[in-house]
Amino acid sequence: MERLKTRLFEMHRAAGRFYYDTLQSDEGVPARAYLERRQLKPNLARKFGIGYSPDRRHALFDHLKGLGYSVEDMVKSGLVIPDKEGSGYHDRFRGRLMFPIFDAQGRVVGFGGRILSKGEPKYLNSPETVLFSKSRNLYGLNFAKAARKKELILVEGYMDMISVYQAGFHNVVASLGTAFNREHAMTLKKYAEDVILLYDSDEAGTNAALRAIPVLVENGFHVRVTQVPDGKDPDEFIKQNGSAEFSKLLVNAVHYISFQIACIRRKYALDNPEHRVRFATEAAQILTKLESDIERDVYTAEVSRMTGVEESAIQNEIRKLRRKED
Ligand code: CTP
Ligand code: MN
Ligand code: MN
Ligand code: MN
Ligand code: MN
Repeated sequence: MERLKTRLFEMHRAAGRFYYDTLQSDEGVPARAYLERRQLKPNLARKFGIGYSPDRRHALFDHLKGLGYSVEDMVKSGLVIPDKEGSGYHDRFRGRLMFPIFDAQGRVVGFGGRILSKGEPKYLNSPETVLFSKSRNLYGLNFAKAARKKELILVEGYMDMISVYQAGFHNVVASLGTAFNREHAMTLKKYAEDVILLYDSDEAGTNAALRAIPVLVENGFHVRVTQVPDGKDPDEFIKQNGSAEFSKLLVNAVHYISFQIACIRRKYALDNPEHRVRFATEAAQILTKLESDIERDVYTAEVSRMTGVEESAIQNEIRKLRRKED
């Protein structure tokens, strides 16, 4: 392994330790109260290495310096930033609840830091570094892979991942609010065949789920989708309703095609003939992408039932669209 990488791995580990120790110290009192409010159990906070970054300008910088790390390496780690003016340096993360981001081998490669009160940005993340890439790393994969499940639950946020895990479902990873891309899919592919997509049920989360579906499908995953009700996220749902109710949401996850069709359906008033035409046409475009004849048949029947359009008409439309694609 390159020497720089080795040094940065060690530095991240030291930083994680520093944030972790700060959380247990007097300085960590507000962050511990915050964790308690969010009902994160102490043993899980420990397991996930949750910490707190001191609300001081260069606490980590001084600490790492004391351990003998070079300023150059500190800047490369993204944990320390040169001051805009003058020759000083400051810590990237200050006064935030710290989530270490691990790689699949369990090494710390970056951090996400949440502000304790209201303010922007809510989360601050490590920048792209030699160790960390937002488009490759998935939060929680090191824990999820130990569950050795064929199926993974994919959520948006740090706290969603931890709450689902805490609720007893260990096969969960988070894409951390970034668009789920091909690199993510290829990473996941090493550990799972099936995905349950469980993004926030607000508009942003729904749209992100709709964009993640083709990426997952094109990379060979069987995809089912589920959402918590009322625009909430999995963390909030579990807090309010408990793990038994949550488990029902997983059981009720639907084939991605049903989810896509339901999303299109919402745009139309099906008592209006023109809307029925547009809905059936848009749905046919989705059905065209299905490779399995059986699946195509089943969902064609579903669209036919919803619109009153004959199955044969929808099938013809699909045939036309398929010919165009060739
Ligand atoms: N995110 C981010 N930067 C932000 C906002 C969000 O990196 N300014 C990422 C985080 O990984 C976050 C995820 O996107 O966990 C989902 O965003 P959001 O739903 O807004 O946050 P929550 O995870 O629900 O945050 P919390 O429950 O702590 O309020
Ligand atoms: Mn959101
Ligand atoms: Mn299939
Ligand atoms: Mn949340
Ligand atoms: Mn959320």
